[in-house]
Amino acid sequence: MRIIETIAEMRKLRRESRRISLVPTMGFLHQGHQRLIAAAANRGGLTVVSIFVNPLQFGPDEDYDRYPRDLARDLVTARSAGADVVFAPAVSEMYPAGVSTTRIELGPITQVLCGRTRPIHFSGVATVVAKLFHIVGPSFAFFGAKDAQQVAVIRRMVRDLNFDVGVVRVPTVREANGLACSSRNRYLTDEERERAGTLFRALTAAERLYAEGERRQAALIDAVLTMVESAAITPEYVEIRSWDCLDPVGATLDERPVLLALAARIGRARLIDNVLLGTDLAE
Ligand code: PAF
Repeated sequence: MRIIETIAEMRKLRRESRRISLVPTMGFLHQGHQRLIAAAANRGGLTVVSIFVNPLQFGPDEDYDRYPRDLARDLVTARSAGADVVFAPAVSEMYPAGVSTTRIELGPITQVLCGRTRPIHFSGVATVVAKLFHIVGPSFAFFGAKDAQQVAVIRRMVRDLNFDVGVVRVPTVREANGLACSSRNRYLTDEERERAGTLFRALTAAERLYAEGERRQAALIDAVLTMVESAAITPEYVEIRSWDCLDPVGATLDERPVLLALAARIGRARLIDNVLLGTDLAE
C-alpha cells in the first residue's frame, strides 16, 4: 500500500490510473470505514482512502483539536481492508492559504437537521470533498449511510456542479447493541456506550410501527422520543424528511421513502443515526 502526502504526487498517480474508487475519511478508522474500503475495493480499479481531519467542517466550539487521530493504526486498518493508497495530506497542503478559502454553499439542504446546530459543517464537508474529487479524480466515492445528510449534500453537489463521480451509500455498521460505529464513540464511557444503543432500538421500534401500517408522522416520532427519553437521553432532534432532498413531509406519510433521523448528546459525544422507511434501501 502506498502512502501519499502531496497533491502533486496524488495527481501524478491519478493520471497513471484507469479507474479510482475513493473513500474519504477523517481517520481513526473503525469497522464502518473497513466496510466502505471493502466496498470500494470490490469495484476494482485503484482504491484510495483519504485521511484528513478537515478544519473547515468544525465550528469554533467543536472537537477539531481533540478529534481522535492515529495514523499508524489507520495505515494497518486501511491496508487490511483492501486499500491500495492512503492519501494523507497535511492541513497546510490542503489549505496553503489558511482556512479562509473558497467555499461551496448548498443552501437549505445544509441548514436543516444537523445544520441547525452546525451551520458551517456541511459547507466545510462539501468544500473538502470537492477538493478531494479534483485531486484524486475518482469514478466512485463511498460514504456511510449513518451520515445521511452528508450523503444527500454530496449527491446534490455532484448533481449541481456536474462532477462525474458516482456517490455510493454503504449501509451502517453497528456495535453489538445497535450503536452505529463512529470515531466519536470513543468519547463515551462504558455506561454511556451501553445506553447509546437505545438510539437504534428506538429507530427500529418506529420502523416496526411503519411496517405495521402506521403513517402518522407524529406517532412515529413519538415512538422514538418515548424510548430515547426513557433512557435519560435528550435528543437534539428526531425528524422525518424526504430521504433524498431532506424536504419536509406531510403529517400523514404517503408511500414515498422517507428518512427518520435523530441526533443526541450523550456525555461528551454528539451521536447521529437514521433509518429509511418505505424503501428497500432501508437496513
Ligand atoms: O464523513 C467524514 O468522515 C467527513 O465528513 C468527510 C466526508 C471525510 C469529509 O471530511
